[in-house]
Amino acid sequence: MNAPAKTEELAATVPAGVYAETVTSVQHYTDRLFRFRMTRPDGFRFRSGEFAMIGLMVDGKPVYRAYSIASPAWDEELEFFSIKVPDGPLTSHLQQIKQGDHVLMRKKPTGTLVLDALTPGKRLYMFSTGTGIAPFASLIRDPETYEKFDEVILTHTCREISELKYGFDLVEEIAKDELLSEVVGGKLRHYATVTREAFPYQGRITDLISNGKMFADLGVAPFDPAVDRAMICGSAAMLKETKVLLEQAGLTEGANSKPGEFVIERAFVD
Ligand code: A2P
Repeated sequence: MNAPAKTEELAATVPAGVYAETVTSVQHYTDRLFRFRMTRPDGFRFRSGEFAMIGLMVDGKPVYRAYSIASPAWDEELEFFSIKVPDGPLTSHLQQIKQGDHVLMRKKPTGTLVLDALTPGKRLYMFSTGTGIAPFASLIRDPETYEKFDEVILTHTCREISELKYGFDLVEEIAKDELLSEVVGGKLRHYATVTREAFPYQGRITDLISNGKMFADLGVAPFDPAVDRAMICGSAAMLKETKVLLEQAGLTEGANSKPGEFVIERAFVD
């Protein structure tokens, strides 16, 4: 008897309520970071900034982790930006994936970093560290972001310069894209900082906010709840400290059910 076709084999092992999608490209940035793109299931809808549970079968069992969808809602593929944890239950395997491999994704996306969770404002800050830039990679490629805000400031802080590449490539890609660059029309600003190497912009974003350097570098006024809105995605400590700084400036946290002046993604915090 012939062996079953690969797709049949796969279909038999995919758990209920889960998609199995095909990897279309993989790019490694450093020994800690990579991105991959995969096919988007027909009928899979999400809002830019949301996350999904991504997984692989490991020793016959599915292993999942929350991943922000880094591609915008209009994209025909799905993109993810991932850390590589040497002994990570998922990422030690996920970092090995190649084009043509299959990745699992639970059917329901969710998340708080969505435009609907913010009250109207003029300037939108997106504060990220490390792979926390992923939901913003989605939102800065979504025309709705620029319909709602006059200025969008994406901050990205990493330990080393090489870890900033994903963000720089993204901004360059937007500038080169005829349609998107017209929509963005100069509203997007990218403020990249590094903490463990010499770089023109150096230091943790929390320190650069506290000492006023971020505002001076960008040539903008300090936080003002009347015009400024913010989204935060990064490590647990960074979320906490940035939240305090925004609250000190008079901004209040919002959620899907009750829009506010800033929102935080806590899905990746263990
Ligand atoms: P630092 O190098 O000073 O620890 P990680 O790779 O560990 O996730 O860190 C990503 C970036 O986030 C690093 O530049 C790191 O700076 C920074 N970071 C770590 N903790 C905080 C915090 N509490 N507030 C702001 N930034 C932080």
